[in-house]
Amino acid sequence: MGYGSKENTIGQWSIDKLAFLERYIPNYLLATKKALERYYIDAFAGRGEWIHRQTGEKVAGSASIVLRYAKEFTKIHLCELEEDRVEDLRRLVAENGASDKVAIHQGDANRLLPFIMKSIHRSAPTFVFLDPSGDHIHWSTIQTLSKWKTELFILYPYNMTLIRYLPRDPEKQEPFKKERLNLFFGTDEWEYIYRNTPRRYLHFELLDLYTRRLKELGYQYCNISKCFKSTTGQKLYYMIWVGKHKAGKDIMNWVYKQQSNQLSFDL
Ligand SMILES: C[S@@+](CC[C@H](N)C(=O)[O-])C[C@H]1O[C@@H](n2cnc3c(N)ncnc32)[C@H](O)[C@@H]1O
Repeated sequence: MGYGSKENTIGQWSIDKLAFLERYIPNYLLATKKALERYYIDAFAGRGEWIHRQTGEKVAGSASIVLRYAKEFTKIHLCELEEDRVEDLRRLVAENGASDKVAIHQGDANRLLPFIMKSIHRSAPTFVFLDPSGDHIHWSTIQTLSKWKTELFILYPYNMTLIRYLPRDPEKQEPFKKERLNLFFGTDEWEYIYRNTPRRYLHFELLDLYTRRLKELGYQYCNISKCFKSTTGQKLYYMIWVGKHKAGKDIMNWVYKQQSNQLSFDL
């Protein structure tokens, strides 16, 4: 578990994921320092602070990490579905004296983001962290985000969620799983791939479909992490960074190198 509505613990693999943000944000700020305005959106913000599942220590969540840089963004938007977590975020923001810089939104990120984006100038650099615990990001949301000067850092929940929607026998796939995959990929092309690709290549082909579609939206540059695994070696998810500028890609290359166990490639 972890990240579930009653759970306030996270595993080492989540901390490793957040290390990317810790390295990326200061460099993103440097790269965008000439921009008149710049924004940060954490679309699945969680509660800001967690307890490390193995050590019991308090650890900073994504919202706490970005709050360290609150002064340098024009505005930070935090979205979260769960009311108790929104309360935690409010407290955290107030404690950090950042209430004037941070807008907290309660609800489904897919509904909130189109409204948030309307408040942002089309040419303002905007970093969007999309870190759900499953297949919650609809393709239509990514399409909306792509119309702005955005960079996206997306959790791609292949082993955690998508593979569970793809039984070995396609005839046993329940209709709601098809629906969820259609929302996630924004197309039913996944189904042809699913039915016609040997199982051991399926994750490559579906990842390729997703990143190809990101490129079609204008995200020319892409980095894909290796698969994040649990402490027991269970495969969980990939992190995908996409952007429209080489400078962002160069920074992410550097970050991936620092994280040392990561690979990266161009689309
Ligand atoms: C993986 S956790 C986020 C962790 C956070 N980014 C961090 O690193 O501290 C995902 C969060 O998304 C929230 N959530 C789930 N569905 C959502 C939705 N449709 N819109 C916004 N938030 C959602 C969950 O309550 C959970 O707190």
